[in-house]
Amino acid sequence: MTWAIAGGTRRSARAPGKCILFGEHSVVHGGPELLLALDLDVEVSLSRSAEGITLNGNPTTASENPYLQSALVRWPTRERIAVRTTSQVPRSAGLGSSAAFCSGLATLLRPSPTEGPASVAQAAFEIERGAQGVGSPGDTSASVAGGLITVNSEVGESLWTVADGDRRWTVRQLAAPPLPVVVAYSGVPRSTADAVRAVGRRLAQPDGPALLESFADVTREGIDAVRGGDAARVGRAMKRNQQLLRDVGVSHPRLEELLTAVEPHAEGAKLTGAGLGGSVVVVPRPGELETVVKRLARAGAVAWAIGSPGRGAAVRPDP
Ligand code: MEV
Repeated sequence: MTWAIAGGTRRSARAPGKCILFGEHSVVHGGPELLLALDLDVEVSLSRSAEGITLNGNPTTASENPYLQSALVRWPTRERIAVRTTSQVPRSAGLGSSAAFCSGLATLLRPSPTEGPASVAQAAFEIERGAQGVGSPGDTSASVAGGLITVNSEVGESLWTVADGDRRWTVRQLAAPPLPVVVAYSGVPRSTADAVRAVGRRLAQPDGPALLESFADVTREGIDAVRGGDAARVGRAMKRNQQLLRDVGVSHPRLEELLTAVEPHAEGAKLTGAGLGGSVVVVPRPGELETVVKRLARAGAVAWAIGSPGRGAAVRPDP
């Protein structure tokens, strides 16, 4: 991978945020996971800069951005590069804004002739992992691939394997009937790394392996229900997954308020992402999507109805 900006022209890419339907946290420990790319994008562009490396016109912002710095550590360059980014995805909300930024950057890096599409997913993961120090490639792979993806599962069409030392995560694309969901940001920002470390400590206790098996079980059930287009079954699995997330200590009073607000109108709902704040995902009962959005807004959240999944990261054609 290189940063080469051919001919000095501006190149840009867009990459979607994500929501995790099942299996967050347990995926870090090898469990299965199901993610949905959102139709909310982060846009990243690279062009020549007059003054070293800048982010949105500012060299200090560039030097303080852990994701950009992580990319520069992996692929050092002498080029002077202006990185610009705009986002429809709120930051620190559990909706994959960092993963989308990493995927956008990885999409703009130029692969060597021997590298295939899987190298973009690997590069996006390495950038994010280098910045966060912990985590799985689920978020970045969802952003690179788009649609619905499974990680560490036998279900779906094989896309790629992402590696970290001798650890491997298999990533597959899942075809499924449309599943309308609502995602909503609570307004409570959180740190993925802190949540992942806290869950790691919890799972190191004697009942950790049994808890992990319960996560895997409910995620397999959720993947099967999504594949079969059975929204009521998806909802029941979500409620079970949420209980496990409570058990490992990553729910939050604001998230619980939002889940209570939608309960009468939802097949099921759960936190999505690392938890300890961040966002929830809801599968509305038939005909109740607008009510769910209104209830979440009335409870103080910012809500999006996600009709069809987002498309995977791609270079934008020249204007
Ligand atoms: C964060 O969006 C999802 C976690 O499972 C961490 C990860 O997979 O990197 C909590």
